[in-house]
Amino acid sequence: METIRGRMSHSIGLTELSERLADYNQISLDLGTGDGRFVRCMAEKQKDRFFIGVDACRENLRANSLRKLPNALFVIANAHALPFELNGLASHITINFPWGSLLESLLSNDRCLMDGLLVITRPCAAMEIHLNGEALSTAGWTLEAGADQIENNLNASGWNTKSKSCIDEHTLRSLPTTWAKRLAFGRDPRAIRLSFQRE
Ligand SMILES: C[S@@+](CC[C@H](N)C(=O)[O-])C[C@H]1O[C@@H](n2cnc3c(N)ncnc32)[C@H](O)[C@@H]1O
Repeated sequence: METIRGRMSHSIGLTELSERLADYNQISLDLGTGDGRFVRCMAEKQKDRFFIGVDACRENLRANSLRKLPNALFVIANAHALPFELNGLASHITINFPWGSLLESLLSNDRCLMDGLLVITRPCAAMEIHLNGEALSTAGWTLEAGADQIENNLNASGWNTKSKSCIDEHTLRSLPTTWAKRLAFGRDPRAIRLSFQRE
């Protein structure tokens, strides 16, 4: 699969990936990682866990992927066609403030995405999703109705809801993602957090 560090892309196979992951029990995968800030911050904070950021767009990843961290990796891939090297790896998934085709697929119960989420996770894996009002209204949904739709789709696809809550500007500011900061200081800071556990 294709990984990126700064401007350099590097193809990594199963053997090299297994070596990188050998010392880690917990593997978190951040889907639609954007500029990778969340992965960089979390990897710096939780050194006993390995963090993988995945995004279809490479340009935004240049700065954060340059930081040399033993427990972080950035993968260029589309969420609808996740590389087989990730199969069965993730103990945790995060999807922070999805937009575009990632958000559309959560809303439409797209099989490629939903099946892919099951394929890359371990049994009992946890998943946390943050949704924001503006992205959902661009997709034609209210925040509440869009969150309900996504929750129902995931429940039908093997994920049990653990919690669902509105989050405020203060909580948004505390999340180490670039988009959370933007939203917290923007016009529409409404957001919902959904947590799931795989059946
Ligand atoms: C609003 S940004 C959020 C970025 C980051 N999670 C954050 O909180 O700062 C949404 C991200 O989803 C990515 N994305 C959208 N559709 C995708 C897809 N089908 N596969 C992978 N990434 C996708 C975009 O490239 C973008 O980086």
